[in-house]
Amino acid sequence: MKIALVGYMGSGKSYWAKRLAESLSYPYVDLDIMLEEKALNMSIAEFIAKRGELAFRKIESATLNELASEEGDFVLATGGGTPCYYENMEVLNAYFRTIYLHNSVQDLYTRLQHDRQHRPLLAHIEDAALKEFIAKHLFERSYYYEKAHLRVNAASLTIDQLKQLSAHG
Ligand code: S3P
Repeated sequence: MKIALVGYMGSGKSYWAKRLAESLSYPYVDLDIMLEEKALNMSIAEFIAKRGELAFRKIESATLNELASEEGDFVLATGGGTPCYYENMEVLNAYFRTIYLHNSVQDLYTRLQHDRQHRPLLAHIEDAALKEFIAKHLFERSYYYEKAHLRVNAASLTIDQLKQLSAHG
């Protein structure tokens, strides 16, 4: 079975996907890392600065489609925007068991406040405007995230819960 974690930047997708993969003995795939190493040959931030976000979204979607057609089990950490472009959320739901890592705006803000220099969509936001930006952006994106097969509360999540849910729902 292929499992994909979706959710906003800073929601813990990579952390939990890695832990879930370890505990299931599945390979772990990080879409951002795969893009940077295999498709873009540079950091996402650099690519977006050079070619624009739309060009990034096209390559992101093409890479997701390739992963969807791969045989075998693995756990995928998507990028925060992956479900929100093209038919990506439909592709994710068709080929993966999808889990939305839900976080409160406050938790995301606390985490992203000091960890956003490498995140091209947040790096230019003024400190004073960040929380409001996250709240609006999360609201817009929730429409896609909520289409996931399962939604978990990231603040109280345990690996046993995640493992159980990913197997039985
Ligand atoms: C993005 C999130 C990033 C990365 C890119 C765009 C987004 O991934 O894919 O910078 O649009 O939310 P993380 O969610 O892993 O930070």
